[in-house]
Order: sequence, then C-alpha cells, then structure tokens
Amino acid sequence: MVSAQRVQDGSKESSIAIAPATRADIDGVSQLELVAFADPWTRQAFEAALKERHARFHVARSAEGAVVGYLIAWFVLDEGEIANVAVVPAARRRGIARALLETIIAEARESRLARLFLEVRESNVAARALYASMGFVPIARRPRYYRKPVEDAIVLRLEL
Ligand SMILES: CC(C)(COP(=O)(O)OP(=O)(O)OC[C@H]1O[C@@H](n2cnc3c(N)ncnc32)[C@H](O)[C@@H]1OP(=O)(O)O)[C@@H](O)C(=O)NCCC(=O)NCCS
Repeated sequence: MVSAQRVQDGSKESSIAIAPATRADIDGVSQLELVAFADPWTRQAFEAALKERHARFHVARSAEGAVVGYLIAWFVLDEGEIANVAVVPAARRRGIARALLETIIAEARESRLARLFLEVRESNVAARALYASMGFVPIARRPRYYRKPVEDAIVLRLEL
C-alpha cells in the first residue's frame, strides 16, 4: 500500500510519500536512527524487520527519495505494538510522524486489530504530545525500562 501525503513546509509545500520500506531505505533509516536515539537499533534489526511477517515497516521519503522518517509496528493477533518511529530533525513539526501514524492506524483498522500499544520515555515531550493528539492514553508505567539514560517508560494504548 502506498499513500502520498502533502505536508506544509513553511512558505513552500513539499511532497512526502509514505510507502513500505525496502532494502534501499535501510541506509537512510539506520542513519536517522543514530541521530534520533541514544540507544539505537542496529542495522541488522532493521534488516530483520523487513523480513518479519508480523512487521509493518513504513518510510516517509522526500520528493528526492531521501528517507525523512520511518515507523515500525508489529501486528500480532488482534493487537499491534508501535516499536519505533522517528523523523529527521530538519523535517520535524511538518506532520510527517502524524502521517506515518495515520497510515499505521488505518492499516490496523483494516486488519481488524482491537488496539495499539507503545512505550515512550517519560521525558519525551514531543512524542507524548504527538501520541496524545492521536488519541493514545497512558495505561501503565514500566520502571527503568530504558537505558542511556535509564528512565521509566509510559505505556500508551489506542482503542481502535
Ligand atoms: C517525536 C517525533 C517522531 C515527532 O515527529 P514530527 O514529524 O516532528 O511530528 P509531527 O510534525 O507529525 O507532530 C504532530 C504533533 O505532535 C506534537 N508534537 C510534535 N513535536 C512536538 C514538540 N517538539 N513539542 C510539542 N509537541 C510536539 C504536536 O501536537 C504536533 O502537532 P502540531 O505541529 O500541529 O502542533 C520526532 O520529534 C522525533 O523523531 N523524535 C526523536 C525520536 C523519538 O523520540 N521517537 C519517538 C519514540 S517513542
């Protein structure tokens, strides 16, 4: 499934396309992961996600084809878990993460999932605001869930 999103980019409009990830995206995804997280996934983890049948792995590409964002989710039985999402710093606050989440939520509904879960660092104000704006609600805390730095995770749920 491929969907095109147009996002407002200040004075000019840029076209961002959201599509399933391919091997050609792994360099860009791995580079973005290193910029976005202190405790990043390995390149091998992304390659494995490409082959994992439960994985939904989407990228957002610029008009030039550069990876500007990605989202990985696992769909198992009637529940989904959003495992990873990031957007390149230069392209943030333009609706790319929202578009990636909308894509995965639509697919979850098509797949008749009952709910989606995710974990987020307690201090991650940007991500928590994003998820709250999409209807995710906090349901639990996992003490010391993250490393580098050690921090609690907040578990969020979206009923579909
Ligand atoms: C979190 C992240 C993915 C958001 O990506 P993004 O493309 O900038 O988000 P969007 O532009 O789609 O934002 C949608 C909404 O989320 C909220 N939001 C996003 N960034 C925010 C920020 N820095 N501060 C407050 N609210 C924010 C806003 O409600 C925003 O809507 P608005 O711009 O109309 O106010 C991005 O900041 C990122 O890659 N961070 C590092 C990696 C990370 O933390 N991933 C999440 C792990 S759980």
